[in-house]
Amino acid sequence: MDFPEGQLVGLAEIAQMANVGRTVVANWRVRDLKFPRPVAELRSGPVFRLDQIERYLARRRKNMTYIVSTINLKGGVGKTTTTVALAEFLSGEFGRKVLVVDLDPQTNATTILISENRWSKLNDKGHTLATLFHDALRPDNEPEKFDLKATLQKGVSPVSAVGTVDLLPSSLDLIDVQDRLATMPSGRFYASRPVDLLHKAVRPLLPNYDYVLIDCPPNLGIVTLNGLRISNGYIIPTIPDVLSTYGIPQIQSRVADFARDIGEDIVELGIVVTKYRTGTTVHENTLARMKTDSTLPELFDEMVPEANQVASAAEHVAVSTLRQKYGYAGMFPLLRNLTEEFIKRAEASL
Ligand SMILES: Nc1ncnc2c1ncn2[C@@H]1O[C@H](COP(=O)(O)OP(=O)(O)O)[C@@H](O)[C@H]1O
Ligand SMILES: [Mg+2]
Repeated sequence: MDFPEGQLVGLAEIAQMANVGRTVVANWRVRDLKFPRPVAELRSGPVFRLDQIERYLARRRKNMTYIVSTINLKGGVGKTTTTVALAEFLSGEFGRKVLVVDLDPQTNATTILISENRWSKLNDKGHTLATLFHDALRPDNEPEKFDLKATLQKGVSPVSAVGTVDLLPSSLDLIDVQDRLATMPSGRFYASRPVDLLHKAVRPLLPNYDYVLIDCPPNLGIVTLNGLRISNGYIIPTIPDVLSTYGIPQIQSRVADFARDIGEDIVELGIVVTKYRTGTTVHENTLARMKTDSTLPELFDEMVPEANQVASAAEHVAVSTLRQKYGYAGMFPLLRNLTEEFIKRAEASL
């Protein structure tokens, strides 16, 4: 046989190139008609032309948007910190295009990424996601006010090495919207169900991104469900203590029920342990329990310790690099590894 392009690869090499496991590649072969045909079946398995595989993987990566919600029923467990760090590392270290959707009325992801000052100006003009939800509640004779283009903030993050993160900002006004949406009779929403509002509004944007990260409020109310409605998966950041981990089984079952209702898969990508203190009995015990409880989502290997560098990352201060923001020795390599693990899990899930 003559292979003009020279190099051939097998399934193991493809898995390595794509940074996924072999079973994932096997799945693609079965499910995806565009997967290149093997040039030969050897005793060791099928072999493929490297150039065709490279083109396939590039196209696959380009066409996929991974949409991931960050959820925990408790506040203060590192949801926002994790979401923002993943967004910044996905962009700055892994060259991905990222959209952060801030659904939490506390607006922390928003102010970390664009500063309080810039947020306040947007908020005065109604250029936040609160307006999207307010529109659904307006009287019929009022025009829609949500302006997607003016609301989308491009090239956010105070780190100059982070060039490809965009943001849909939140607003404190989301608190009041959440309560009113919950008590709205469903007949009022002729055009959209209350959980479809975000989906309908942002659908045209999504294909522009490799990753969409949704920072959810600490509950499973209608606003969070709007985020889950468009998500392929979710992560649960948690402090390894009793109260923070208490609600995890409830999240799992509620999300699974909701996914069934809407007829989509919403995959458990895992638990991110945050603010971890080694040597603390409660943390060590909770961690041991979480590791052995096979009903819980799998823990990410990389765990984020309680660290000043992580706490101060909440300030919107201009720096050049992620190493400067998160610290050269400690947190930078750790968060980079966490992001790499996140990519592997996300890309294996679709
Ligand atoms: N690993 C960490 N070490 C130290 N402080 C942290 C860490 N992760 C988060 N924090 C701080 O804890 C507080 C709560 O974190 P945040 O991400 O806002 O939680 P959530 O979004 O779940 O409410 C913030 O002040 C944040 O800066
Ligand atoms: Mg938060």
